[in-house]
Amino acid sequence: CGIVGYIGKRDVAPLLLEGLQRLEYRGYDSAGIVVTSPKAAGLKMVKAKGRVRDLEARVPKRFAGTTGIAHTRWATHGAPSDVNAHPHLDAEGRVAVVHNGIIDNASELRAKLTADGVEFLSETDTEVLVHLISRSQAETLEEKVREALRVVEGTYGIAVMHADFSDRIVVARNGSPVVLGIGEKEMFVASDVAALVSHTRQIVTLDDGEMATLKADDFRTYTTEGSRTTATPTTVEWEAESYDMGGHDTYMHKEISEQAEAVDRVLRGRIDDRFSTVHLGGLNLDPREARGIRRVKILGCGTSYHAGMIGAGLIESLARIPADAEPASEFRYRNPVVDPDTLYLAVSQSGETYDVLAAVQELKRKGARVLGVVNVVGSAIAREADGGVYVHAGPEVCVVSTKCFTNTVVAFALLALHLGRIRDLSVADGKRLIEGLRRLPEQIDEILKLEPQIKQLADEYADAKSMMFIGRVRGYPVALEASLKLKEISYIHAEAYPASELKHGPLALIEPAMPTVAIVPDDDLLEKNRAALEEIKARSGKILAVAHQEQEKADHTIVVPKNEDELDPILMGIPLQLFAYHTALALGRDIDKPRNLAKSVTVE
Ligand code: G6P
Repeated sequence: CGIVGYIGKRDVAPLLLEGLQRLEYRGYDSAGIVVTSPKAAGLKMVKAKGRVRDLEARVPKRFAGTTGIAHTRWATHGAPSDVNAHPHLDAEGRVAVVHNGIIDNASELRAKLTADGVEFLSETDTEVLVHLISRSQAETLEEKVREALRVVEGTYGIAVMHADFSDRIVVARNGSPVVLGIGEKEMFVASDVAALVSHTRQIVTLDDGEMATLKADDFRTYTTEGSRTTATPTTVEWEAESYDMGGHDTYMHKEISEQAEAVDRVLRGRIDDRFSTVHLGGLNLDPREARGIRRVKILGCGTSYHAGMIGAGLIESLARIPADAEPASEFRYRNPVVDPDTLYLAVSQSGETYDVLAAVQELKRKGARVLGVVNVVGSAIAREADGGVYVHAGPEVCVVSTKCFTNTVVAFALLALHLGRIRDLSVADGKRLIEGLRRLPEQIDEILKLEPQIKQLADEYADAKSMMFIGRVRGYPVALEASLKLKEISYIHAEAYPASELKHGPLALIEPAMPTVAIVPDDDLLEKNRAALEEIKARSGKILAVAHQEQEKADHTIVVPKNEDELDPILMGIPLQLFAYHTALALGRDIDKPRNLAKSVTVE
């Protein structure tokens, strides 16, 4: 979900609607806005099921105000609808709340409030907060909010307005991001810097348990217990323009096209040719500690998990440390053995995914060393980790991840090389891999030139009801990620299997109507992979291969440039991003905002 708020002198509705547009990728089943001004008698609200443009269509011409909060929602409690959209108001329409997160004890509180005669208007968990604030006898808005937060359990990022305190917005954070934007005689608040950067690049990120009061010319931060905290604004690096579509029809297409420069960025300033190694300034791991690592465990969700799987392979092959990846969402619920000699790596584009953050917190409680592989600088996971590697992909807006996936894998290659050169990777191998990394941007551009061929293939395969993706060892996570991409944006059922497992079950599915996409790199496993193609062909399965040379058994081959064996997975997934993209386009899907999904899931 997305929150945006403003207090200042400008007409607030257009500002908030623009902010919501920029946050829409965080959730888009309904949206709403509340405004007021110092002279106004109360709060004015408009809400709508659907997209931000549906809300915009409903906002009346005269909707003046200079203070406001707005929200775009991704439903948790209560179906998407006008009433369930945020903001939520109390019965008198004097208190307004927008909320990201989940109140765990909402039903219990709701029952209590109902018994006291409160009438609920929506099915949301958020509404309990509104009534608690509204019924508080405390004198200040800050104290009213604090009282309410004392009884709720769960996660929240909230922004609150009150008709009796129209000179301020009160915000609070616990588990769901809240960022303040500091302007000239105006203040902003949002759940994501994306909504702020076109107005100010001076930001303050709240910590869990922190609150803030925003007035037009001033802000202050304090804990939920009321003691003041110091907040020094930092400057956001990302330019407002990087959030624009820049001539592309979708963010996904723009982000796929940006991968060569993004990879250039993650490599910049980190390669040391003299010692054929890599410097990672923020890692916070000295060589002695690095030599003592006996295992590496990588945690992430969705696409970041797949990037972590490739990362595990890289660490194992270059640094010779046993490594594996696991979904953070699973890991945190199975009471894992936390071993002091294991290095834990938390992978996340947004740095806010709750399952990953919770896993990091659990690990830290048990004394583990956790490093982050994160894209968003200063995000919750980056701050919670003991150090790490920033991925430097730049802002990623499309719900599904493309350039950040690629950059994350490159960041893992850097980390693996760094660890390898401290342990037993040779100078020659270091040099070979560095040269390979330097070739990536140019090779990515070569792959992007294949778009017309890939589009044609996508049109041909778009009527499939189901597709199989296979790869072996390094190629398997590539297959997994490509199948996820296809599922997410085209809604075609897809599954990924290790090519070696085909004969142990999934071969039963192969028939002409079930095409297979096969990852077939020119490496020591080439003959094994070719054998899998034979098995499929023998069952009349249609095959699309991604390979370094034409594959005789395949119906079609996308030929990509060869890099070093270890680095091939970075390139082999890229044509399949375009394949998923053009398949979804052929099927008329909403590519940047696939149904039921959100860019970052900051709730359980
Ligand atoms: C959501 C998104 C996925 C993403 C995952 C992890 O499920 O829909 O595209 O891969 O979260 O996000 P993160 O920001 O932690 O990489």
